[in-house]
Amino acid sequence: MPPKALLQPAVPPPRALPSFLAFAPPLLDQEELLQLKDTLDSGWLTRGPKCERFESACKDLLRSDGTLAVSSCTAALHLGLLVLNVGPGDAVVTTPLTFASTAHVIMYTGARPLFCDVNPSDGNLSLERVRELLANQCNKDRDGLTRHDSTGLTVKAVLPVHYGGFPADVTGFRETAGAYGLNILEDAAHAFAALTDRHQVGSSVLQRMPRHDLSALTAFSFYATKNVACGEGGLLTGPEPLIRKAAVLSAYGITDERKIWERHSPRATWDYDVSVLGWKYNFTDLGAALGLAQLKKLPEMQSRRRAFAKIWTSALSSLDGKLVTLPKESSGSSSAWHLYPLRLIPENLSCDRNSVIDRLRELNIGTSVMFRPLHLFSYYARTLGLKEGDFPEAESFFLNEISLPMSPANPMPLVEEAAETLRRLLLSLAR
Ligand SMILES: Cc1ncc(COP(=O)(O)O)c(C=O)c1O
Repeated sequence: MPPKALLQPAVPPPRALPSFLAFAPPLLDQEELLQLKDTLDSGWLTRGPKCERFESACKDLLRSDGTLAVSSCTAALHLGLLVLNVGPGDAVVTTPLTFASTAHVIMYTGARPLFCDVNPSDGNLSLERVRELLANQCNKDRDGLTRHDSTGLTVKAVLPVHYGGFPADVTGFRETAGAYGLNILEDAAHAFAALTDRHQVGSSVLQRMPRHDLSALTAFSFYATKNVACGEGGLLTGPEPLIRKAAVLSAYGITDERKIWERHSPRATWDYDVSVLGWKYNFTDLGAALGLAQLKKLPEMQSRRRAFAKIWTSALSSLDGKLVTLPKESSGSSSAWHLYPLRLIPENLSCDRNSVIDRLRELNIGTSVMFRPLHLFSYYARTLGLKEGDFPEAESFFLNEISLPMSPANPMPLVEEAAETLRRLLLSLAR
């Protein structure tokens, strides 16, 4: 065999960036300051009129039926399951390749997650695996409910995650859910501004279920690193009656929580009822101030994310299928590009994923890994009796994945330089 150097044209060694390319800083400017000042001047800091303005801006943008802004996506997911009547004795089908939040909320209700493996192509919950689980391991009981054979749990819902902002097959999941009498709750923490079938993820068109007794809801995150960054925050979208129920549950169970702040106005009375046991999950006007400023520049931020995706893709395209697998949008859908999940092809590289991350850090490039599959965490392994090897696609995705910086706050020339540095690094590691 000729030495590697003779087979390949000489590649210059990777060069460290002149400054650190952070993984996910928020893009903040004068607009956020103005909005925050306006809220401070208003004298009302927590849930109030600005939350309503933010909800209505999200409703217009997503074309959703109802919208409720809450304290986090975790809160939105938890409320979503509660209004879908998920509780003890139930199971929810979901993906292991996600953040702890997705499965934690199922545990909060007293139900159990039923994990299914993911697509190797995009890391999303595999519709095929879900169909197999429902067809081979579940049966309808006398009441027409879908029961999981080995645990006896009633399967109530499917909870797909739009991994990295790449839309899951919502049409396929809606059809399957309809056939088995299941509701849908989408974890769209990464997918604000993602499109599928020409509609925004979270829109009422994409939430239309084939049966009237079933519902679909969508939860978004406004955590500090997300496409719309409010520090903390979340949004639940879905049919208005369910959103109204969720609103009551998001504020201790106080009836008509949306008007709580009006109790402090000169005309209002102090009285209220607590009608059910609810949670303290409300959003704040401070968060909504940031959210309104972020929505204003969302088109610009999304176009920078798309430009960054193009930069990574064009720098690495000659290595696609050889040293790495690049993320790709599937036809008919458009990613929110929250993540750029690069995957290494380990058999063609001389070092593993973690060593590549260490080298990138030395070269001034910040990255992350999304996600360690949940069944590999001691809590889920112990509680659900799961082990390594149970979800091989999720495990292999995790072992080889590196999330590259995509924040619109990053300077374009630095991203261009980082893409070239990464290309050179990978070539230097080729076996
Ligand atoms: C896939 C996924 N779901 C849910 C969440 C929870 O979002 P939040 O921090 O807004 O509760 C996250 C957070 O990163 C996430 O990545």
